[in-house]
Amino acid sequence: MRIDKMLANLGYGSRKEVKQLLKSGAVKVDDVVVKDAKQHVDPESETVTLNGEVIEYKEFIYLMMNKPPGVLSATEDNNAETVIDLLELEDQVYEPFPVGRLDKDTEGLLLITNDGQLAHRLLSPKKHVPKTYFAVIDQEVTEEDVKAFAQGVVLDDGYKTKPGDLKILKSGIRSDIELTITEGKFHQVKRMFQAVGKRVVYLQRISMGPLALDETLELGEYRELTDEEVELLKDYQVK
Ligand code: URA
Repeated sequence: MRIDKMLANLGYGSRKEVKQLLKSGAVKVDDVVVKDAKQHVDPESETVTLNGEVIEYKEFIYLMMNKPPGVLSATEDNNAETVIDLLELEDQVYEPFPVGRLDKDTEGLLLITNDGQLAHRLLSPKKHVPKTYFAVIDQEVTEEDVKAFAQGVVLDDGYKTKPGDLKILKSGIRSDIELTITEGKFHQVKRMFQAVGKRVVYLQRISMGPLALDETLELGEYRELTDEEVELLKDYQVK
């Protein structure tokens, strides 16, 4: 990759600004000053420094966020804050986007990446990637509901869902449940409960395929996936 492209991609300025930076002699590749913007570097095998500081280059970024309520799962919006607004600038320069959507009021696991291929495969309806949600329901959830969900329920638009695996964690005037679904229809969890006459009052995604929400992340916090988590996600695709 050209050194000017690499530096510009990393947010060190426009191609023109980066050219000036190179001209100033601030950039070295393997300890040799590089002034030519056209010079190619291999970020994997060569060490690039700017004023003596090593520059890390990676093509893809994979972030796990504990999405807070009140924030949109989108890259930009004229009115509301988006999950991308919550990222540090050094992560925003990779131009990542959320993989799928959580409702504005839904919390929990959100994968944010610039790896379009991975995102596409994770979202493909053909892959049936399971997503598990924790929810609080406004009334008693019964074994009847468990059976109904196992068969698939008919949503308000007439669509019959694929089977959902419903577990009752606590049943009472309000119930705690876990629901695993393999589709991603608009407002799916809320509409599945609506189909059995109940209302979701709190919704949190706790896992997506092999990826589980890191419970040490506070709402709105995020971290890079570990290499192992990235591998798990990629392997998951081919199964
Ligand atoms: N189902 C919903 O109803 N909302 C979400 O945010 C995710 C799944």
